[in-house]
Amino acid sequence: SFLPNDLFIAINALKKELKAVILAHYYQDPDIQDIADFIGDSLGLSQQAASTNAEVIVFAGVHFMAETAKILNPDKLVLLPDLAAGCSLADSCPPKEFAEFKAQYPNCLVVSYINCSAEIKAMSDIICTSSNAVKIVNQLPKDRPIIFAPDRNLGRYVMEQTGRDLILWQGSCMVHETFSEKKIVQLKIEHPDAEVIAHPECEPSVLAHANYIGSTTALLQYSQQSPSRTFIVATEPGIIHQMEKETPDKLFIPAPGIDNCPCNECPHMRLNTLEKLYLAMKFKTPEITMDESIRLAALRPIQRMLELSV
Ligand code: 13P
Ligand code: SF4
Repeated sequence: SFLPNDLFIAINALKKELKAVILAHYYQDPDIQDIADFIGDSLGLSQQAASTNAEVIVFAGVHFMAETAKILNPDKLVLLPDLAAGCSLADSCPPKEFAEFKAQYPNCLVVSYINCSAEIKAMSDIICTSSNAVKIVNQLPKDRPIIFAPDRNLGRYVMEQTGRDLILWQGSCMVHETFSEKKIVQLKIEHPDAEVIAHPECEPSVLAHANYIGSTTALLQYSQQSPSRTFIVATEPGIIHQMEKETPDKLFIPAPGIDNCPCNECPHMRLNTLEKLYLAMKFKTPEITMDESIRLAALRPIQRMLELSV
C-alpha cells in the first residue's frame, strides 16, 4: 500500500524535508495531537500561524482554521488533510444572507467569531475567538450598535459578561448544542464533587450548570489548576486527551448528548486522520487557496484581533 508501517517516523521525516510545522486543534484524534508541533485553541493556533518560520503549514483542524492560517501566510503552502473538514457553525452563516442582515443595521460594528468563512471575515470589523470575545467587545466604542456572528450561544454569553446589547446572528455548533442538561444534572448527582466545565458554544441551559466556562485552552488550564479531582467536560472530548496527559490522576467525564451519544465527537474535526495527514504532506495536497481581494479584506479584522489580544 501507499502507507509506511510507522506513520510517526514517516511524518516526522516529511516535516524536516518540507520545513513544515503541524498545527493541531484539541478536537483532533489523540495520535494527531501527539505528532503536532503545537496544539491549541483557535486563538493560539492563529498566533502560531502568524509567527511561524516554517515554509509549509499542515493544519490539523477544520477549514476555517486553515483558511485563517492562509490569510496570514499568502506565500506559504497551507495543507488541510481533508478539505471536507468544514464546520456546522461556519456553515450556519452564508455570506449572501449575512450581507443582507448586515445591511439592516447601517451604523453597526461587526464582531465575528473566528468560526466563519473568509467571506464573512471580510465583512467584519474585528474577529474574536472564545478566549478573547469578552475582552474585545469590552474595548469597542459604546455609541455603536454591534452585530455578533455567527454563534448565538457565545454571543449571549458575551452579552451577559459585558452588559452590552449585541445583535445576534442565530448560528450554532451541532456538537455543543447536543449536550443534555438532564444527563449533566444526573452525572452531577452521581459525582457530587465533580465540577462542570463548559465551552461557551453550549446552550444557556448547559452553561447554567457550569462551574467554569472558557475556550478549550482555558478549560485545560482550569482542569490543571482546580483542586477538584473530577470534571464533567461539556465540549468536544478530544480535549480530554490533553487533560488526562496533564493530570493523569484526575477523572474526566465527557458530558453526554441528548441521544445517548457518549462522546459528541465533531464529525468535521474527526475527518482528519493520521493517514490523511501523511498523504497530504507526501503529495502536498489538498491546499487552501483563496481569492486575493477576499484575503486582504479578511486580513484586517484578524490583525485587529491579534493586536488586541497580546
Ligand atoms: P476554541 O478551541 O477556540 O475554544 O474553539 C472551539 C471550537 O469549537 C473550535 O471549532
Ligand atoms: Fe465547528 Fe462545532 Fe466542530 Fe468546532 S466543534 S469545528 S464549532 S462544528
